[in-house]
Amino acid sequence: MFDVSKIRAQFPILSREINRHPLVYLDNASTTQKPQSVIDAMNDFYTTHNANIHRGIYTLSEEATEMYEGSRHAVAEWIGARSEEIVFTKNATEAINLFVQSWGDTHVGPGDEVLVTELEHHANLVPWQELCRRKSAHLKVVPIREDGTISCKDVEVFLTPRVKVLAITGMSNVLGTITPLKEIIASAHRNGTVVIVDGAQLLAHTAVSVVSLDCDALVFSFHKLFGPTGVGVLYAKKEILAAMPPVVYGGDMIEVVEQYRAHYREAPWRFEAGTPNISGVAGVIPAIEFIKKISRDGSHEYCSSLSAYARAALESIDGVKIFGPLDASLSGPIISFSFAGIHPHDIATIFDAEGIAVRSGAHCAHPLMRKLGVLATTRISLQCYNTREEIDRVCSALEKARVLLAK
Ligand code: ALA
Repeated sequence: MFDVSKIRAQFPILSREINRHPLVYLDNASTTQKPQSVIDAMNDFYTTHNANIHRGIYTLSEEATEMYEGSRHAVAEWIGARSEEIVFTKNATEAINLFVQSWGDTHVGPGDEVLVTELEHHANLVPWQELCRRKSAHLKVVPIREDGTISCKDVEVFLTPRVKVLAITGMSNVLGTITPLKEIIASAHRNGTVVIVDGAQLLAHTAVSVVSLDCDALVFSFHKLFGPTGVGVLYAKKEILAAMPPVVYGGDMIEVVEQYRAHYREAPWRFEAGTPNISGVAGVIPAIEFIKKISRDGSHEYCSSLSAYARAALESIDGVKIFGPLDASLSGPIISFSFAGIHPHDIATIFDAEGIAVRSGAHCAHPLMRKLGVLATTRISLQCYNTREEIDRVCSALEKARVLLAK
């Protein structure tokens, strides 16, 4: 049974005051807060298990290696993959860059096409722009509809034989739009196009199975999933990873090094040169366990209902314009809006004085902002520990902003 007060009790930061008000944290699309179990696991690693992995023939190092590889296994099991299909990276951005520089550079050539959508975060756009520049390939962009959605048919229009890869988000970090991934991936595969999914927002709100989706690659980051910063994931199908060359070279990714050449380990280890974020990875299993538990208890339904409440509350305020899907079933709990001609940074500043943390700005999505016809928006993004009372505080803070700043 979902009990928000029990969830909140697990997050020490939520008892903080900001500017003499109880903290209302509504920037979860940027990063989530961490439960005590995740904080304890990282602390415990440094307190009792700290050693480097894969190298030492001694107990501490073996414990660290076991934890690190056990975490890889837990990630794989969570998304329905195999352990050897999981590469740990610094974040989702680095995971996309790795895929682009390794798979992209070996599979995309002059005249080929790379397909993205207008919803993409810079992390799933700029690396592809650079690839196309390096390879004299063409970047094509699937436009969004008026309501911020994209249908499979919209994508199919662009699926020519030249499209080598489609890079698409599962949930927009700006509008919350959920893309019909399964249908789109099936269609892209009929065209012989490889699909990489940016799951940075999607996995925070939906259970994902890579087997059921059949995506070729998927990226996400644990700091948006109640885990630590500095731990991202690149999942790719075994045969795809096996054919990808490493792009970062050094220790731990090699089998044998001769003076003038080296032989590399198999995937995923050949993509993890140097000492990784071992203490961060120690937080992965508790983060996954936390997500599994709250999902069983109904967190997704809770967030959807809270999102519907927030949308209705915001829409009832004169001067609020919400961007993106109005049909709640087409979007996750991420809501971008404008208000009464007041700059989003001013709104966020007034919110901060009330203890409310939201993101304002372009949300690392300049082309999408241009499409929406704005320079910036105010964004609230919800998680399982948010409440209706917090949404009510947002609405009151907006009224204060109107009194202070509306023209
Ligand atoms: N991608 C993160 C956000 O949307 C940083 O806020």
